[in-house]
Formats: sequence, structure tokens, C-alpha cells
Amino acid sequence: MASKRDNVALEELLCMKGGKGEASYANNSQAQALHARSMLHLVEETLDKVQLNSPEVPFQVAELGCSSGSNTLFIMDVIIKHMIKRYKSSGLEPPEFFAFFSDLPSNDFNTLFQLLPTMGTSYERSIENYLAANNGHRNYFAAGVPGSFYKRLLPSRSIDVFHSAFSLHWLSQVPESVVDQRSEAYNKGRVFIHGAGKSTANAYKHQFQADLAKFLKARSQEMKKGGSMFLVCLGRTSVDPAHQGGAGILFGTHYQDAWDDLVQEGLITSEKRDSFNIPVYAPSLEEFKDVVEAEGSFAINNLTVFKGGSPLVVDRHDDPDEIGRALANACRSVSGVLADAHIGDQLSEELFLRVERRGRSHAKDLIEKLQFFHIVASLSFV
Ligand SMILES: C[S@@+](CC[C@H](N)C(=O)[O-])C[C@H]1O[C@@H](n2cnc3c(N)ncnc32)[C@H](O)[C@@H]1O
Repeated sequence: MASKRDNVALEELLCMKGGKGEASYANNSQAQALHARSMLHLVEETLDKVQLNSPEVPFQVAELGCSSGSNTLFIMDVIIKHMIKRYKSSGLEPPEFFAFFSDLPSNDFNTLFQLLPTMGTSYERSIENYLAANNGHRNYFAAGVPGSFYKRLLPSRSIDVFHSAFSLHWLSQVPESVVDQRSEAYNKGRVFIHGAGKSTANAYKHQFQADLAKFLKARSQEMKKGGSMFLVCLGRTSVDPAHQGGAGILFGTHYQDAWDDLVQEGLITSEKRDSFNIPVYAPSLEEFKDVVEAEGSFAINNLTVFKGGSPLVVDRHDDPDEIGRALANACRSVSGVLADAHIGDQLSEELFLRVERRGRSHAKDLIEKLQFFHIVASLSFV
């Protein structure tokens, strides 16, 4: 039977789990929140590179891959406060600020907009008003922008700062050869490239690099001269693309085994499993850098691999039940929508129960070994 996903482009389907339920992204993004906070100094360094324009011109920030949790609101606040400080220390009146929150059309923008603080009552352009407005309010105008960041999203020369966190490792699509049974790159027996053959891993790598080049090209048209961009996505330290580091452990071990359980229990066919692939790729620093240099629109201020920490945020590191649940929720909040579309809600429920069970019995190992690395890039448009 053809699944919903066979017929629908990834960009029309992909989203993190919306709402505010147990497996929602809003309730399972504490790890990203912690990782983001650990690199705030790098965000601020990027903001220090941005050229300040006339206070008469609105200062525009776009957050790409904003999702439906509060992390995006936290970072927007940091960005705008920092820019107000910069205007102030340059003896300039701050301009009006406009924030664009962008994600794929299936993103739960409603939940995000409900989390958005109300606009401060007074936003006339004075420092006093801006700082006062911060008291539980936002001091920027806000809008949602639906669309893929691998395409144009915003008008030419409109954006001063782009920020994108934990999103660019999502590919625009699973490479076609990876799901083509006649291809050497067919990812037989796997739902992710961790541990896959060379051809499969290379197909993913080429997809990532082609996607990143498209992302940079679109941003180079949208960014104002003198603007800056801060990007962070999953990365890896190994040179071998089939060793996906933390992403490999997350999607290539217990999650993989849970899919195998469904096959062995006769709940799905092996072909059904093999036609599901997680469209995520954690690049190496070199792979990322090669694309930025070849595309050529942006100067690199800083490009590093940053140790992120675990995606499992638990109260008790010795509680296998909590760890199993955290693993299932972490997988489900980011890939649940794709699994639901591929095998239906009921089997998807079975899948994540098995992820939880397997996570519970490997809890100690998971807490020790499941660690993310991130590629962090600070780029300027020159
Ligand atoms: C893990 S969430 C990150 C959310 C948020 N930035 C944070 O720090 O918590 C990744 C987001 O990237 C979005 N995304 C993936 N591919 C995308 C694309 N091609 N265009 C726009 N957004 C995309 C997903 O829909 C998802 O909301």
C-alpha cells in the first residue's frame, strides 16, 4: 500500500510534533535550549559584525527553522537586546525591529504565536521604551513566513541578521537513489545512513551539500550588505559520513532496532521499513566549509565544531524508565510526523513503544554515549 509520504514532497509534510503534549517539540526541546545557551557568546560575536544602518530603517531579523517551541523566542530576544545595546553604545537611537519566524508550512505556527509575548505597550523608538518593553513583553514586530529555507523566503536585501538553530541538518529530501531498489545506494535494511555503505552515505552527503549551497544562494539575495548570519546544525567529528556521531546513535541504533522489531513481528514488511529513511545529515566541518567557500557569497568569521551535549534531558540519570521515555520522546518529537505518515498512527505508536523499551534496557549506555556535536558558523555578507 502506498503511504501518504510516497506521494507527498518532504517539504509539505515535515514538521516537529506540534501542540504542547508529552511528545511535542515544545515539550522536548530542552536539550536544544541548553545547547543554544552554551553558545550565546558566539551569537553575540556574530551580531557584533553586523553593520548598523540608519535608525530610520527597520532592523530585520529572520529565524529559519523556528519550529513551535519557545527556543526561537528566547533567541530572538537575545538578538534584539544585543542590537539595542550596540545602537546605544554607538550613540544611535535604536530603529524599529521586525522579526520573521520561518518554517515549513506544516509547522505549528499557532502554538508558536500563542507563546509569543504581547507587544510592549509603547514601542516608540527610545531606549527607555525598548528596555521597559522587555518586562515580559516583546519589543519587536513579528510575522510568520511559511516555506522551505532551501528556496527564497523574503524580499531582496531585506534582512540584517539570519539565525538558524538545529535545522540545517534536515535535508530537502531523501536522495532518490537511497530508496531506489536498483541503485547501489539503496539503503537496504536501514532507516538512517549510520553504518550504511559508501554509496548510500555519499548520496546523503551530496544531498546535504547541494541543499546547503541552495540555502546560501537564497540568503545571499535576501540579506542586506553588511548583514551577518549565525547557523548551527548537527555535525560530526568523524571523516566517514556513515559515522553520524550522536545523530547516528539517535536514529541508527535503538530506533533502527525498533523498526526491525516491527518487521520481525510481522507488523510491516522489510520493504516498508527500507523505504523509510530519516532525511537528516550531520556534516563534518570540512564538508560544511567546502560548500560555503565554493558558493562564495559569505565570508567566514568563525566555523567550528562545538560539543553540544546529550539530547536526553532527564532528572535522574539512574532511572531507566525516565531515560527510555526521554529517548522515545526525543525521537518522536522530531521524526514522529514522518513515521505516522509512513506506517499510520497506530503502528507508529507501536514503534515508539519499542524505542522506549529498548532505551530503557540500554539506559546506562545511552546516558554515557549519546552526545551531540554541532557545526557552528558565523558568516558575513560582504
Ligand atoms: C529541531 S527544530 C529546531 C527548532 C528551533 N530552531 C530550536 O532551536 O529549538 C528543526 C526545525 O527545522 C525545520 N525545517 C526542516 N527543514 C526545513 C526546511 N527545508 N525549511 C524550513 N524549515 C525546515 C523543521 O520543520 C523544524 O521545525
